[in-house]
Amino acid sequence: MTRQLHLLLFGNTRSAGPWRHPEVDHSTAGVRRELIERARTAERGTFDALFFADGLNYGPPATWPYKTTEDFEPLTTAAALSSVTENVGFVLTGSATLQHPYHLARQFLSLDHLSGGRTGWNLVTSFAAAAADNFSARGVVDHDERYRIAEEAIEVVSALWDGWGEDTIVADRATGVFNDVGKIHVADHHGRYFDVTGPIGAARSPQGRPVIFQAGSSDTGSSFAARHAEVIFTGQGNRERARDFYRSIHAKATDFGRRSAPLITPSLRFVVGSTEEEAARAERLAYEHFSPEYQAGWLLEVDVDVTRADLDGPVPESAFPDSTQTHQTALAGYRAFAREGNPTVREFLYRTVNGFGAQIVGTAEQVADEIEEWFHTGASDGFVLGDSGLPGQLDVFVDQVVPLLRKRGLFRHEYTGSTLREHLGLEVPRRFESPA
Ligand SMILES: Cc1cc2nc3c(=O)[nH]c(=O)nc-3n(C[C@H](O)[C@H](O)[C@H](O)COP(=O)(O)O)c2cc1C
Repeated sequence: MTRQLHLLLFGNTRSAGPWRHPEVDHSTAGVRRELIERARTAERGTFDALFFADGLNYGPPATWPYKTTEDFEPLTTAAALSSVTENVGFVLTGSATLQHPYHLARQFLSLDHLSGGRTGWNLVTSFAAAAADNFSARGVVDHDERYRIAEEAIEVVSALWDGWGEDTIVADRATGVFNDVGKIHVADHHGRYFDVTGPIGAARSPQGRPVIFQAGSSDTGSSFAARHAEVIFTGQGNRERARDFYRSIHAKATDFGRRSAPLITPSLRFVVGSTEEEAARAERLAYEHFSPEYQAGWLLEVDVDVTRADLDGPVPESAFPDSTQTHQTALAGYRAFAREGNPTVREFLYRTVNGFGAQIVGTAEQVADEIEEWFHTGASDGFVLGDSGLPGQLDVFVDQVVPLLRKRGLFRHEYTGSTLREHLGLEVPRRFESPA
């Protein structure tokens, strides 16, 4: 089968400013309506999935004056949205270090059943102090230690997901025996960080088990991703950096003995119009509606501090810490933005609304060209797309860019399966099996 492009869409429209646009209904009811609309539009565009990021805290207090209250919990959001859609997948962030693996295993597998096999777990190792403070008084644990916890968490979750085999359920109405108890695999896990006996009382899902997504970028993080992830999220500011990352993940996956490397879907923010003028107008509108104060507060989470800098002056070198253990990748990405083209602080902040990922502003043709270029030159297998959050942008993408991608043979015309694994072209893992 020819290699197919994979498109995911950021579900959170972010508080970074679009709520100020007069046509954006920022009431909670409005957010709910918009989420439903977004999921249905993504499905109309035959996207693989919607992705909901989560930091397990409301962000640095400096963002609070500007931030909306759309910070819904991802799994419950996806549960609601899966009932108004048929095919599109849902990838939800869950913290392997702060959330207990019993809950993670049970919630994700439950949603995988209830959505008909459309769930993915974006496994993160939460770095924010504010998130750690919501779970204990221990603070954030060391970077590599977090990955050790994650190693054990994924082992526990997999064992719980594998509790039921194909022949465990006998459902004999005459005798009243539902399960062949000898065929229930009890995790009985006793490790360094977790003691979990199990089982969780749910059989394998229509796609076997939820798909594992991961975004590790540091050396330890990308090794973890190359070993465990079925799909990797990443932020790469441009194609060249994306290619290096792609190559290094493929090399690591080979070292781990995997038959196929994980899919790699970097984030890409787009601003699109029918003509270059229209795209430029949409970009100006996005720029006018983004909130530099919010964005400056948001960057504090990764120790970038421009809160006291003049918005129309240059980015001071003092904005960046000398060293960091926690967010090396993010810092390198932001530092590169601050150096490219000598932006003002306001322009720099605008460039960071998509984190440290790439962006494209242009006509549908230009956006499709960029996507094709990444896809065909070893930079990506697809993208997690982010829009400006302003009305109409997602529709323009679905109505104008998607048909071009289809015409070029890159992207599906319709869904050919119903599960997230089928959309992604991933095999159903056998029980007790790591990604092959
Ligand atoms: C597209 C993308 C989405 C991410 N979403 C989240 C998220 O929702 N929650 C979170 O805590 N971290 C998120 N991260 C951060 C990663 O989990 C990770 O901390 C980061 O890539 C740094 O890698 P490292 O831990 O190997 O240093 C995301 C990263 C990327 C590139």
